[in-house]
Amino acid sequence: MTIDIITVVPELLESPFNHSIMKRAREKGLLTVRTHNLRKWAINKHMQVDDYQFGGGAGMVMMPEPLANAINELQQDKKFDEIIYMTPDGVSFNQKTANLLSMKENILIICGHYKGIDERIRQTYVTREISIGDYVLSGGELAAAVVVDAIGRLLPGVLNDETSALFDSFQDNLLAPPVYTRPADFRGDKVPEVLLQGDPKKVEEWRHEQSLQRTKERRPDLLDEE
Ligand code: ADE
Repeated sequence: MTIDIITVVPELLESPFNHSIMKRAREKGLLTVRTHNLRKWAINKHMQVDDYQFGGGAGMVMMPEPLANAINELQQDKKFDEIIYMTPDGVSFNQKTANLLSMKENILIICGHYKGIDERIRQTYVTREISIGDYVLSGGELAAAVVVDAIGRLLPGVLNDETSALFDSFQDNLLAPPVYTRPADFRGDKVPEVLLQGDPKKVEEWRHEQSLQRTKERRPDLLDEE
């Protein structure tokens, strides 16, 4: 899978994909992430990519021209299955969307800044608008990194048995159960007996029960989703 990202702060996206599982995904050739500095498509020598908003009001808006030119140029090489705009007024990101996006070949992500991007770009080019939560970040880059990470780890071959996504929280609308490692007795605090007895069926039942209980307590809304 290839993910292209348009940003005015490419530096913010230098590190997140250079470590751990994302690094492995890239080294295995399963994931390619390319960042593109929008200023490359700036309309004048001042490298301008934003302007005052019509109708007045504080805050700049990212101009349509540099963005349209950037998208058109990147589209010459390939057809994007999705053009995603990261914005707090987008649809909330969740595991279901991560699963769906992990099955695409080519994705383009646009990171907003300031007051956001001109509405006409959203209407003309963008196929999906994503928010990573009900709070406002200073730009879409960190949100894009979250989405790329969530998608990247789902690509076939990225995770091994130890890190398998099958039992993650949310994969079946349940939170993950508690986990324990050695020692079995940590300063008098003992691991639940069922995990030490070696009966896989009982372990599975216990984990399911714990997941259900945790979800009821913390995220009852998940149990109402189909
Ligand atoms: N840009 C700024 N805040 C954001 C958010 N919560 N989600 C996605 N993109 C954003």
